[in-house]
Amino acid sequence: MAASANMNVMQRAARTAGRQLVKDFREVEQLQVSAKGPGDFVSRADRAAEAMIRKMLREARPTYGFVGEEGGAEEGEDPTRRWIVDPLDGTTNYLHGLPHWAVSIALEHKGRVVSGVVYDPAKDELFWAERGEGAWMNESRLRVSGRTRMIECIFATGLPFAAKTTLPQSLKDLARILPETAGVRRFGAASLDLAYVAAGRYDGYWERELNAWDIAAGLLLVTEAGGFVEAMDPADNPLESGALIAGNAGTFERFAKLIRNV
Ligand code: IPD
Ligand code: CA
Ligand code: CA
Repeated sequence: MAASANMNVMQRAARTAGRQLVKDFREVEQLQVSAKGPGDFVSRADRAAEAMIRKMLREARPTYGFVGEEGGAEEGEDPTRRWIVDPLDGTTNYLHGLPHWAVSIALEHKGRVVSGVVYDPAKDELFWAERGEGAWMNESRLRVSGRTRMIECIFATGLPFAAKTTLPQSLKDLARILPETAGVRRFGAASLDLAYVAAGRYDGYWERELNAWDIAAGLLLVTEAGGFVEAMDPADNPLESGALIAGNAGTFERFAKLIRNV
């Protein structure tokens, strides 16, 4: 599968930042035992990764806009195109030395995500998709799972932490979902949760209180792999609402009904 010129730019940026993050991750593993802990070091690594990505993307496409979790938004000369970047998704995992985190880069054109990359450097798994061209992991084509029986399905979610306000809803979701399924996972990186749905590893995923940079690339992965993505409220745009349901074709309807409790 020949990737577009923009996709090559995105993959190069994700791999370059990923390489640096892997080096820093080794340091983080050492810092676990220090009294101060790795917190400040990780914040610096996170910001440095975004700066690196921003610079590479700007050099390659000087007219595009940019929005990143760490450094904020920058309008481009071309108002129709912008990069949406989470340099390190799964920060809490990274901070604790858990090798499950990713670089997420999406390109939006006229309000629609047209290309997405989610790169897991610790496993060297690069998930990527272009609108209308399918979804891939490294060289392999991705398809959502073919399961149709909820009781055989595994669903991923993100549980609210710290000041998040949706704990009551999440606990009710779990009470409805767990008895009907093979289980729920909470691995801690929304971009990879979506990539894993695209890869058929999870059968579905739901979460609330997300930001565009957590999910922009992952949403395209799922739909290009033949899956479905909707906002929790079906009238909303999933990217803007930050509360979404994603799944395979065989169980999405039942799964979405359970989550929405209808
Ligand atoms: C977080 C992760 C996590 C999700 C959080 C996100 P971050 O992103 O994607 O899985 O549950 O809501 O904020 O902070 O690690 O980039
Ligand atoms: Ca994130
Ligand atoms: Ca982040």
